[in-house]
Amino acid sequence: MQDLMTQTIKITKVAQSKAREVDFHNIVMGTRFSDHMFICDYQNGEWQNPRIEPLAMIPTHPAAMALHYGQAIFEGMKATLGKDGTPLLFRPDENAKRMNFSANRMGMPFFPEDLFVEALKQFVAIEKEWIPTQDGSALYLRPFMYADEPFIGMRAATSFKFIVMASPAGPFFHKKIKLYAEKKYVRAVNGGTGEAKAAGNYAGAIRPTEHAKTKGYDQVLWLDAQHFDYIQEVGTMNIFFKIGGKFITPDLSGSILAGITRMSVIDILRDKGYEVTERPITLTEIIEASKNGTLEEAFGAGTAVGIARIEEIGNKDLSIKFPSENPVSDMIADTLEGIKTQEIEDKFGWLVAAK
Ligand SMILES: Cc1ncc(COP(=O)(O)O)c(C=O)c1O
Repeated sequence: MQDLMTQTIKITKVAQSKAREVDFHNIVMGTRFSDHMFICDYQNGEWQNPRIEPLAMIPTHPAAMALHYGQAIFEGMKATLGKDGTPLLFRPDENAKRMNFSANRMGMPFFPEDLFVEALKQFVAIEKEWIPTQDGSALYLRPFMYADEPFIGMRAATSFKFIVMASPAGPFFHKKIKLYAEKKYVRAVNGGTGEAKAAGNYAGAIRPTEHAKTKGYDQVLWLDAQHFDYIQEVGTMNIFFKIGGKFITPDLSGSILAGITRMSVIDILRDKGYEVTERPITLTEIIEASKNGTLEEAFGAGTAVGIARIEEIGNKDLSIKFPSENPVSDMIADTLEGIKTQEIEDKFGWLVAAK
């Protein structure tokens, strides 16, 4: 078997980029796609034919197993431009690792992590013109893998595609967010697939999220399936609270996605001298902290949204309001953004130049 890293990535470029047609000041996230895609096929037990080519439709057999049994996983990451105009990736090795964690849970083949990072670097260097430059904007990158084998029957597929595509993204939440503390539906249970970035997890979240939106909330706050009290996460974000000067975030208990923003925020907070504890957190204790005046700040943390300040957690029986000032959340948002654009020194060594 030929080592995949010794195969070069075959590159076919579009005749003319469409980047100049895009109004980068009015980007509707996820609606415009860049010129190319990276694509690689898994067949006969090996990944083959890594290539970058013009973004195009992919012929799909109606029996493709991902459509029926949901063997589909994905990642989300962002590319920004550094001070000298170099495209930068943020901790791509962590996305590569998490993709394989998800692949393992979903019975899918590992994708070589060094090829994952190399593919992203070459892809982003080609799509450089698509990286928006305004504050808080970035080129959103979507690596994903799915079972394309035509087969009806329940078993792991034997052929897959790994693809990376990109979509320019403006700042996600311009306003503070309200969370609906969901007490009927659940996102994940221990032993389930909540720790994996599996497409099906998001399918199950769509109806509850729509429901929360009709009630005037922005996102669902997911609680545990047994007590409906342990806080898990939010939409596509992990959650942090500041109570009595200290930070807490739910521990990775087996049903929460291990966010790369989450792990970066923990490092930044500790570096700034804050105490951060990862532990089970109940809604009851947040209500208590709100009543006794120790609840100071809360924010969601994720790649798509960055840092989203939380103004309220509620449902029909509940309304927890947060103070309007969020000084530490603001500092974290600025630090993360500053590192990604090289306004702030990358002392953790998180950036990878794509050139
Ligand atoms: C369910 C869920 N939780 C948390 C996150 C945050 O993860 P990250 O910081 O790696 O984007 C995401 C986004 O990927 C998500 O989909």
